[in-house]
Amino acid sequence: MQIPITPRDIAITPNHFVPEIEKGLLAPFASISPKFLYDPLGSHLFTAITLLPEYYPTSTEKNIFTQYRDEIASATGIGGTLIDLGAGNCQKAESFFSSLKPSSYLAIDFSVEYLQDALKKLAGKYPQILMQCIGMDFSKQLIIPDSIAATKRIFFYPGSSIGNFLSTEALQLLSQIQKQANNGGLLIGVDLMKEDSVLIAAYDDPLKVTAAFNLNILRSINSYLGSNFRVDQFRHIVKVNHAEKRVELYLEALEDLTVTWPGNSRVFKKGELIHTENSHKYTIQSIQQLLKDAGFASTQIWTDPKDYFAVIYAQ
Ligand code: AVJ
Repeated sequence: MQIPITPRDIAITPNHFVPEIEKGLLAPFASISPKFLYDPLGSHLFTAITLLPEYYPTSTEKNIFTQYRDEIASATGIGGTLIDLGAGNCQKAESFFSSLKPSSYLAIDFSVEYLQDALKKLAGKYPQILMQCIGMDFSKQLIIPDSIAATKRIFFYPGSSIGNFLSTEALQLLSQIQKQANNGGLLIGVDLMKEDSVLIAAYDDPLKVTAAFNLNILRSINSYLGSNFRVDQFRHIVKVNHAEKRVELYLEALEDLTVTWPGNSRVFKKGELIHTENSHKYTIQSIQQLLKDAGFASTQIWTDPKDYFAVIYAQ
């Protein structure tokens, strides 16, 4: 296995995020980027979310992948480099190894420590595939380093993670993918707009796993910033924003409180909100338009019987 040296400007160095976190916390409407949800405990809580019966995206996408794996493989073709954006435990990509037959696999994630463990296991199982990984925050910019072969690239962006981005940011990321695909393409999973009751159940589950996942961001921020957020002073809130076509997650202060960290502090009044995540929901038309705007010439689309979720190959 070859692990390239991560270029300095895109390396994960925890303190590098302090200005971004402070800016969000000190704004009149406080916010924390959803990427900070995925500390070690947060990553496990997210895995638990994907096992909830109410959280339909993961199981629906999996069913689409299982049912259409061969069709998807004939759309993408075989060989080339499979580039996994937000690889996590690399399981979804692994399920495509036998049908897509990539000659190399590049796993990219925010948290590189988690990736290296997952890749070591994979490398033993698939000796014919060159395995590489990079720790990168591609929410700002996606640059595939020169050390990665410029062969045909299949970008893999499952799970509807694109939903975290505002449309301008999504367009920028998709354009960067399109420009670096070298005559390959993008295999993406996208969550579709649906009735509120289904969305609310998925993002405010009765076991409160999503509440724990959301609240844990405060502990994650404490470790980056040295702040003193107390999880028991907040509660998990979900709103469906119809105008913006998204589910929004917040943390609401349960009392007047002050959070302090080296060099700064922030007062929260009872009822004040911290925005932690947007999860945009697309229609087939709106995602097709976005992919077209990003420079992709054609799309092939697979959905489930309820049209809850779409898997798209864009070229
Ligand atoms: C990983 C961004 C796709 O938006 O559904 C799950 C994250 N947040 N439950 C989503 C999430 C709350 C998830 N994404």
